[in-house]
Amino acid sequence: MKLLAAALTFIAAACIPTVTAGSSQVDSSRGSGDRGNVPKGFLTRKGTKFRLDNKDFAFVGSNSYWLPLLTTHEDVDRTLRDARAAGIKVMRTWGFNAINATELPTALATNLTYYQVWNGTRFTTNYGEQGLKRLDYVVKAAAKYDVKLILAFTNNWVGYGGAELYINWIKPGSPNHDIFYTDPAIIAEYQRYVKIIVSRYKDSPAIAAWELMNEARCLGDLPAGPNCPGKRLLTQWYKQQSDYVRSLDPYHLITTGGEGHFFWNNPPVIWFNGTGSTDYNYNGQAGEDFEEDLKLPNIDFGTYHIYVTYWYPQLIYPGSNFSAYEWGLGWIQQHADAAKKIGKPVILEEFGVASYESKLAWYPGWVQRALDTYHGIMPWQYGQLGLTESGGNRVIKYADAIIDGASPNDSNTFYKNQTDIWTIFTRAAAIQDARSR
Ligand SMILES: *[C@@H]1O[C@H](CO)[C@@H](O)[C@H](O)[C@H]1NC(C)=O
Ligand SMILES: *[C@@H]1O[C@H](CO)[C@@H](O)[C@H](O)[C@H]1NC(C)=O
Ligand SMILES: *[C@@H]1O[C@H](CO)[C@@H](O)[C@H](O)[C@H]1NC(C)=O
Ligand SMILES: *[C@@H]1O[C@H](CO)[C@@H](O)[C@H](O)[C@H]1NC(C)=O
Ligand SMILES: *[C@@H]1O[C@H](CO)[C@@H](O)[C@H](O)[C@H]1NC(C)=O
Ligand SMILES: *[C@@H]1O[C@H](CO)[C@@H](O)[C@H](O)[C@H]1NC(C)=O
Ligand SMILES: *[C@@H]1O[C@H](CO)[C@@H](O)[C@H](O)[C@H]1NC(C)=O
Repeated sequence: MKLLAAALTFIAAACIPTVTAGSSQVDSSRGSGDRGNVPKGFLTRKGTKFRLDNKDFAFVGSNSYWLPLLTTHEDVDRTLRDARAAGIKVMRTWGFNAINATELPTALATNLTYYQVWNGTRFTTNYGEQGLKRLDYVVKAAAKYDVKLILAFTNNWVGYGGAELYINWIKPGSPNHDIFYTDPAIIAEYQRYVKIIVSRYKDSPAIAAWELMNEARCLGDLPAGPNCPGKRLLTQWYKQQSDYVRSLDPYHLITTGGEGHFFWNNPPVIWFNGTGSTDYNYNGQAGEDFEEDLKLPNIDFGTYHIYVTYWYPQLIYPGSNFSAYEWGLGWIQQHADAAKKIGKPVILEEFGVASYESKLAWYPGWVQRALDTYHGIMPWQYGQLGLTESGGNRVIKYADAIIDGASPNDSNTFYKNQTDIWTIFTRAAAIQDARSR
């Protein structure tokens, strides 16, 4: 997730010209069978369901970007063991951690995990103990505790070194974020990194899926250029990158990692303070087209996120006739409907609200709708207690810290001692498990 994400700009969305959405031609699911004999233990898909070793695989998963940032094997073990005991079968984490040469001394002093160092037009890879060996251990421990990992290759946002590092070093001074999706030198460096990661874990059944980017949008920390919204740049990029990953790895599932924005001819209008505007999440302005992206031959399943209170802060005011809870239910249903039509699985890959009361009030209904529509369900984010490294207290980076043994708390985090929230997910996990036959 990215707090205070750019959907704040949705009010301007009405100015975006309507571009005809693509044909609604349905791509019949090819399933994994077309890729030959998938090795034992590899996640596959058939129609709208995930499959594992000839059984349906329904799941509750979660997100833990900080897992490879832990510095001890014990804490990685503890996290995956406890998550699995709670019924969490899939964990999503970052397959990237990039820094600048200027950040290197601090990274070394603080034991920060980093895989890429930028100090010119090509990054240097850190294969060492403080680098990819940490990710190696996470993959190894996931296999040990029977948890499958979704690994993202980069970030739309600058956190832990995303697209902006590629842009700043390869095309310094670029005014726009979307050059990331078009510049040949940037694409070549991105693919060089993708190849390093995919080659490393290509034989591991602990990988559930490869993910092209966390939350790809036209804009990042830099603004979007004139050529991104409405031009299907992201669909083209998803096609190019998913085909590339498939050329490296015939078996693992591949997904976008997108927030699930639609690009509809008639996007819904939302009302605030007496003024209506088209909804940013439906009008193509963000750059994705959930339906066209999911039809791509090497995109195996769809992803989307829900941060309704962050995306629509204006609409929580009294006087708005908009319900955040209802908006979430509609968003879940629409993604299930779209995925069903296309014939591929879909996961509610991230969702979060900060307030404890809203979590309690909204999560049961959202989770139930996701269960009713056969989603994979992955709340943001998993909280671990009892971490012991550095005596249970360590600043990781930014405001991310382990405090009194608790993993980073961004207030969306749910911990085992928040029993009434925790049980919403363990209950759903048991239902999903019973369906996995
Ligand atoms: C840094 O992390 C490594 C494990 O990767 C650990 O062995 C070492 O003790 C840590 N150093 C400090 C100063 O915490
Ligand atoms: C980064 O590049 C500068 C200029 O070439 C060089 O002086 C410096 O040593 C480099 N830093 C690292 C960590 O490679
Ligand atoms: C290098 O990292 C620093 C600290 O995060 C950041 O301020 C700076 O803009 C980065 N430089 C480039 C070229 O990305
Ligand atoms: C609502 O609209 C009125 C009239 O246009 C304006 O004065 C007021 O600032 C607006 N309130 C908010 C919270 O935007
Ligand atoms: C909100 O109010 C506007 C203006 O009266 C109306 O057009 C719209 O349908 C209402 N939306 C909902 C969800 O009730
Ligand atoms: C995390 O933060 C929330 C408030 O944002 C607080 O209610 C909760 O107790 C915190 N949990 C932990 C384990 O620190
Ligand atoms: C859960 O445990 C953490 C870490 O010990 C603590 O900070 C937090 O207050 C606890 N929360 C509850 C609800 O007990």
